Amino acid sequence: MALKKFIYKTILPSCLKPHHHEKPLPDPKIVQVSKPLSSQRLSLSDISYPGSPISVTLSNLSASLVGSNLLIFTHKELQLITHKFSKSNYLGEGGFGTVYKGFIDEKIKPGLLKPQSVAVKVLDLDGSQGDMEWLAEVIFLGQLKHPHLVNLIGYCCEDEHRLLVYEYMEQGNLETKLFKGYSATLPWLTRLKIAVGAAKGLAFLHEEEKPVIYRDFKASNVLLDLDYNAKLSDFGLATDGPQGDETHVTTRVMGTHGYAAPEYITTGHLTTISDVYSFGVVLLELLTGRRSMDKSRPGREQNLVAWGRPLLKDPHKLDNILMDPRLEGQYSTEAARKAAALAYQCLSHHPKCRPTMTTVVKTLEPLLDLKDIPVGPFVYIVPSEAKDENNVHKVENVHNRANCGNREDEEEKEKKERVHRRHRRGHRHRRRAQSLKSRAVYSDTHLYESLGTNLYSLDPM
Ligand SMILES: Nc1ncnc2c1ncn2[C@@H]1O[C@H](COP(=O)(O)OP(=O)(O)OP(=O)(O)O)[C@@H](O)[C@H]1O
Ligand SMILES: [Mg+2]
Repeated sequence: MALKKFIYKTILPSCLKPHHHEKPLPDPKIVQVSKPLSSQRLSLSDISYPGSPISVTLSNLSASLVGSNLLIFTHKELQLITHKFSKSNYLGEGGFGTVYKGFIDEKIKPGLLKPQSVAVKVLDLDGSQGDMEWLAEVIFLGQLKHPHLVNLIGYCCEDEHRLLVYEYMEQGNLETKLFKGYSATLPWLTRLKIAVGAAKGLAFLHEEEKPVIYRDFKASNVLLDLDYNAKLSDFGLATDGPQGDETHVTTRVMGTHGYAAPEYITTGHLTTISDVYSFGVVLLELLTGRRSMDKSRPGREQNLVAWGRPLLKDPHKLDNILMDPRLEGQYSTEAARKAAALAYQCLSHHPKCRPTMTTVVKTLEPLLDLKDIPVGPFVYIVPSEAKDENNVHKVENVHNRANCGNREDEEEKEKKERVHRRHRRGHRHRRRAQSLKSRAVYSDTHLYESLGTNLYSLDPM
């Protein structure tokens, strides 16, 4: 489960405008829409209370969300597809409630185009979240469709029951993949692919005609499909961006410790750029394999940004201290440096110094083509001597040896090239250092970099 959500209501000035999440909850049966439904996206702020011109019952909400094609499920149907919300279908639990796996086909929904696995999220009626988070999810995800946003298939609103039905994401969430060591370490290119996918999801939200601030970007809200395509989930805290001449939205501070932007925490001022900071935190988590907050680490390493941000710009520290040791050096040095420089900018304390998400995508995506990744250690599997399996092993061994030879050759070649490159670079650096020394224009850092055993370039990042 994810880090605890926080609400800083006690430390914020009481004059802050209330946010939609703070309004008294509407009658679950009646939602009023304050303007005619058109092709324009319906926002949460368009929803008001009895007395407004057009009233829409929640059971009719799907029809109001133009073109969304949301399916409406009965509670009984969802019981059926999750085997009565059985333990064996349990996927996990968050602030909203419990999530179960299910399967829908024509028998459940006649006319359904393709049978598919789904994830069913059940609102915990005694939990911290409620109707408004459920509604935010339906309103935003019902209308916003993008390859990097999880697809909301439908919902259930029956009596007190509030459920959401999503496409099923086979690889679960990024937090589990990155930090809970049940599965193999995520390789470098997969991490980059996830970062690019999630960045595209955020960029899409920010570039909408009516921009959306996601507000709860964190590793556990990035879901992964079978091919590690990243999709954003959990729109319960999402909100419409500033309208007209406004520069920000003022709101009660909500989010997750370790991910929220510092200016948002101290002022309650929310912009799309606050999401960029949270993205920077997740990018840093992907580089380091460390959690944004980790109480099990020594004091000064517990807050990832405070510890890691200063190290991002130092190539030596980046390779030797910051990068996730589980990657075993198997990443492109150039790509890692560029990603680190980007994370550094995203994590700036000055919102104006942060890039937009569109710039983030443009910077990150080309890094997927940098494939100068050192070859990993070769593992030779000793063939079994069991007699009855002799023939099988003979075939396998011939095959293995052939692969083995190729790989050894390649590895040897790669090793020689690396040594050669290192010598040449060392030579170049010594020459450059000597020439700088003679002109006495280098800083201590440059001297360290150029005379040390590392191979880093003297060019500023
Ligand atoms: N569409 C989905 N497909 C597969 N698994 C999902 C899906 N949606 C959620 N899950 C899983 O269900 C679990 C709970 O998710 P949920 O989003 O409710 O909580 P969380 O992200 O851990 O915490 P938070 O409440 O802070 O968002 C997670 O393990 C998540 O991976
Ligand atoms: Mg979540």
